[in-house]
Amino acid sequence: MEFKEGLTFDDVLLVPKYSDITSRSQTDLSTRLSRNISISIPFVSANMDTVTESSMASAMARAGGIGIIHRFLTIKEQSGEILKVKRSGSVMIENPYSISSDKHVQDALDYAKDRDISGLLVVDSSFKLIGIVTERDLLFASKTDKIQDVMTKDVVTAKLGVTLDESKEILHKHRIEKLPIVDDSGIVKGLITSKDITNNADFPNASKDKKGRPLVGAAVGVKGDFLERSESLLNAGADVLVVDIAHGHSENAINAVRYIKKAFPNCELIAGNIATARGAQDLISAGVDAVKVGVGSGSICITRVITGSGVPQLTAVIDCAKVGQEHDIPIISDGGTRTSGDATKALASGASTVMIGSMLGGTDESPGTVLTKNGKRFKVYRGMASLAASLGRKSKEAGSMSLYDDLNDYVAEGVEAMVPYKGTVTDILKQLTGGVRSGLSYCGAHTILQMQENAEFIKISRAGFAESQPHDVSLM
Ligand code: XMP
Repeated sequence: MEFKEGLTFDDVLLVPKYSDITSRSQTDLSTRLSRNISISIPFVSANMDTVTESSMASAMARAGGIGIIHRFLTIKEQSGEILKVKRSGSVMIENPYSISSDKHVQDALDYAKDRDISGLLVVDSSFKLIGIVTERDLLFASKTDKIQDVMTKDVVTAKLGVTLDESKEILHKHRIEKLPIVDDSGIVKGLITSKDITNNADFPNASKDKKGRPLVGAAVGVKGDFLERSESLLNAGADVLVVDIAHGHSENAINAVRYIKKAFPNCELIAGNIATARGAQDLISAGVDAVKVGVGSGSICITRVITGSGVPQLTAVIDCAKVGQEHDIPIISDGGTRTSGDATKALASGASTVMIGSMLGGTDESPGTVLTKNGKRFKVYRGMASLAASLGRKSKEAGSMSLYDDLNDYVAEGVEAMVPYKGTVTDILKQLTGGVRSGLSYCGAHTILQMQENAEFIKISRAGFAESQPHDVSLM
């Protein structure tokens, strides 16, 4: 039997090359997520229930990356998360949320809380604008008051076609935050908010769809409700779906890809996870638009411990990227990224993007609350194949636990853990992108593609690895 050598990030370094770059700003991190989607930074937040829901996905898109909403939700909940992202950063919200004037304050409060919004337009049955209720109107109103008695009736509006600058001027002149857009008959056509205008100016690299709304993806499984789920997610506006199972080089995954592509031919589809050239080839032949690579490399994964199976991440990416390149299909390196150096190595070895879990867990935008232990703050971060996560899934996703009807039979391939609370994801992404930009420069490259052409890896010894870490000093 022949043994193939498998290497991962800590086994290698990138050999420094001559660079003509004098400032990090001369580097360009734009890349392809999938066949038809490009993003400005090569980072994707993992479809895990402790990493990506709407808040994370909106922040990722604002920074120029993308988030994939996890599937451990009901179809309605997951599609609702997509809708929230789509509304979070568009300059004009189409179909803004509204309420009728005979409803009560409590209805408006519930409705707004459910959808994470701060105000509602008040419309009649033909969607004609008759008022607006914002936090200010609702704050001290009795919960049983009718909307028509508390709403602001003199609403400042603008006509369809108003420019961004004109909207800004109107919002400023009237010291208001929401500007409904109406047609000549007063029918609501959209809503422009000061928050979205500010976001637009503050985040010039944001990932956007053709309508100027944030890009967002969503994960689906390979059994049970996956086709119905795909349809609902696409209808809600998901830009890309990810067929996500632990062993993606399987008949189940390949069939799911074929079914989805057949039912929704225009759907941009990623699938994984696989770790070999053959796995990449088979998914590409089935019709995927990007391949997600990584088996057992994630920080909370115990697949390799439990099953003995996996491929060290760097080798997996190199092998899959060769196939991806032959077919012009991007590769996503998923799992095991602990530093910007790891991300740089994954990109240099052929990945177009890097999917990240633990580094983004523990942020303000990741789901879950902050816990305090021994005076330090943490958030829960858990593997999607951990026992705790599988319990959540059993109740949310039809069919997903059919193999494990009795939980005693469930063999976990992930662990539940805690990660330090880290503040906002924007700061983490600044560190990550800053590190990768410098990494490009060390490879003498202005772009990720150039880095892939220039990259020369050197295998290092244990002594070389030890030398790479801070050593012989006491860390503060
Ligand atoms: P990091 O290292 O960024 O990895 O935390 C995130 C990736 O880990 C994968 N993942 C799992 N793998 N068992 C596994 O073997 C699990 O329970 C599990 N949960 C997540 C997934 O690919 C994710 O993006």
